[in-house]
Amino acid sequence: LQIINKSIAEESTGANSCANCSITEHLESVFAQAIALAYPEYSKTPVLIAPVNTGSAKFGDYQCNNAMGLAKKFKEAGINKSPREIATELQRHCPSSPLIDKLEVAGAGFVNVFLSKAFAAEALSSMLRDGIKPPSVPRKRVLVDFSSPNIAKQMHVGHLRSTIIGESICRLLEFLQHDVLRINHLGDWGTQFGMLIAHLEDRFPNYLNESPPIHDLQLFYKESKLRFDEDEEFKKRAYSRVVSLQNGTPNSIKAWELICNVSRKEFQTIYERLDVTIQERGESFYQSRMLSVVELLRSKHLLETDDGREIMWPDETKTGIPLTIVKSDGGFTYDTSDMAAIRHRVEEEKCTWIIYVVDAGQSTHFNTIFKAAERCAILNPSVHRVDHVQFGVVLGEDGKKFKTRSGDTVKLSDLLDEGMKRSLQQLESRGREKVLTPQELKDAQEAVAYGCIKYADLRHNRVGDYIFSFDKMLDDRGNTAVYLLYTYTRICSIARNSGEDFTDVAKVLSTVSIELGHEKEWKLAKTLLKMHDIFIKCSKELFLHFLCEFCYEVCAVFTEFYDSCYCIERNKAGEIIGVNRSRILLCEATAAVLRQSFHILGLKPVVKM
Ligand code: ARG
Repeated sequence: LQIINKSIAEESTGANSCANCSITEHLESVFAQAIALAYPEYSKTPVLIAPVNTGSAKFGDYQCNNAMGLAKKFKEAGINKSPREIATELQRHCPSSPLIDKLEVAGAGFVNVFLSKAFAAEALSSMLRDGIKPPSVPRKRVLVDFSSPNIAKQMHVGHLRSTIIGESICRLLEFLQHDVLRINHLGDWGTQFGMLIAHLEDRFPNYLNESPPIHDLQLFYKESKLRFDEDEEFKKRAYSRVVSLQNGTPNSIKAWELICNVSRKEFQTIYERLDVTIQERGESFYQSRMLSVVELLRSKHLLETDDGREIMWPDETKTGIPLTIVKSDGGFTYDTSDMAAIRHRVEEEKCTWIIYVVDAGQSTHFNTIFKAAERCAILNPSVHRVDHVQFGVVLGEDGKKFKTRSGDTVKLSDLLDEGMKRSLQQLESRGREKVLTPQELKDAQEAVAYGCIKYADLRHNRVGDYIFSFDKMLDDRGNTAVYLLYTYTRICSIARNSGEDFTDVAKVLSTVSIELGHEKEWKLAKTLLKMHDIFIKCSKELFLHFLCEFCYEVCAVFTEFYDSCYCIERNKAGEIIGVNRSRILLCEATAAVLRQSFHILGLKPVVKM
C-alpha cells in the first residue's frame, strides 16, 4: 500500500503540475485515489467535491462529501462504519498534493481541504509569466450551429440571443483547445423563395445583368406574399420556381443568389458590430444530401406514408410527433434538412459533439431529430454528444414580448444604434468626454454599448425568459458590463499610477514574490484560482451565467482587497512613499483573469473609460 501511495504522490507532485488545472478536478482525482486505496471495493464511487463559501475560512476551501454515501453503502452490505470513521480513513489515504496545505475531518464526516499558499502564489506567478493557459480536457471536434436567421425575414431578438450565446460558447470551447466549427444554418431554402423569385422576375426583368435595388427585402417579401395570396397565375408560377430552384435551373439560382445577398449583407454588418465570426452553411447546402438521407431512411424501412406525406417516428413506440421527411407534393421540410445536416456533421465533418443554439420553442423538434438520428444509426450515443442549447424569449419592460412602440418586431440594427446612443449618454453623464480623447471615448462607447447588450443576455440563466432593459444594463452598480468594465479599468490604472514599470511582469517576478499573508490577499488569490473550475463547469453544462457570476465575484473580492490592503501609499501631499509590488502583481493577475473571462463573454476591455 505504501508503495502505491508513494508513486501516486510522486506523479502529482512535480512543481507546477497543477498551475493550469481545475482545482476541483485535481481534488477529485486525489480523493478518487484515496477511495480506491481505502476501499478498493468502492473504487468506482463518483467523488463529491464542493467549494466552501469563502466567508467561512475555518472549514477550509473545498470539502469532500463522500463519507456519508460510503457509510450508507457499507450499511447495506451489513457493515457498520460511521461517516467520521470513513472520513478519517479517506484523509489518511489521500496522496500528498502540492495544492493541499492540510486536511481536516469535521462535522458529520466531511473532509475539509485547506489550499496551500505556496501553491497559490506559484500558480498566480506562472499565470502572470506565461499567460492564462487552459485546463486540459479531452479534445473534440465540435460543431456549433448558432445565429441561423432566415433570408428575407427579419433577424430578430431571438436570433440575437442565439448569436450572443453561440459566439461565447465557441470562444469558450476554442479556449479549451477544442476544434470548433462555427456554422450559420441560414434559412435560405424554403418555399418562400418561389414567390420571391417570381416577383423579382416581374419587378426587375433585367436582374440577370444588373443587380436589382431591393434594399428593403421585407417590403419586397410582403409584396410578393400579397400577390401570391391573390393571384392564381402568380401562385402557379411561384410553385414552379421552387421546383426549378431545387433542380438548379441557372436563372432561378441567379435570382435566388441576388435575394440572398441582400440579407447576407445585413446579417454581416450585425456580426461585424458584435465581433462575431461565423461560417455560412445554409439549408440549401444540404439539397443533395436531403435526397440521399431520404434514400437511406427508405432503405432502412423507416418511412411511413401518412396522408400523402412520408413521415418518420423517432422510435418504435410511435409516440410523440413524427418528422415529416417528404411532403405530399414531394418537397422537403425543416425536418429533412436537419436530418441531412446531422448526418453530414457526423459522417463527413467527423464531429463528435454538435451544439444547436436555438430558442426553447424548438426543443421538441431537436429532441425528435436526435432520437430519429439515433434510430437510423447516424448518431451513436456512446461516441457523439448532441446538445440543444435552448434559451427563453426576450421580453420588454412591460413583461410582454419585446416589440417596438408601434408593435413591430425590433430591428437589430436599430437596437444596436439605440445601445450606442444610450452608452454615450451614460459616459457623458460622468463627464468622460472631457477626460478621454475622441478615440478613447469611441472605444469606451462601443465597449459599453455592445458589452452591455451581450452581458445582460449571458448573465441570466439562458433557459428563462429575460427582460430587455437598457436602464438596467447600463446601471454601473449592479452585475452589469458597465460595472465590470469600470472595475477593470480601475485595476489597470493601479500599476500605471505606481510610478514603476510593471509592463514586463516576468522581470518584476524575478525580484518580487507574491505574498498572501493578509486575509484579503489570500481570499483574492483563491477566488482567482477558481477560474479553471468555472471554465470546466461552463463547458460541461453550456451555461455562461456561471462565468458572469464569477467575474462579478472577482470584482467584489478585489474591491474588498483594495479597500483593506494598500497597494500604493502616499503622504499627505499625495507623493508616493511606498509601493507594495506583491499587491500590484495581484492586481495584474486579477486584470488578467478578467481579461480572459471578458474575451469569452465578448466584452472588449478598455484601458481607459
Ligand atoms: N432558421 C431557424 C430559425 O430561425 C433556426 C435554425 C437552427 N438550426 C438548425 N439546424 N435547425 O428558427
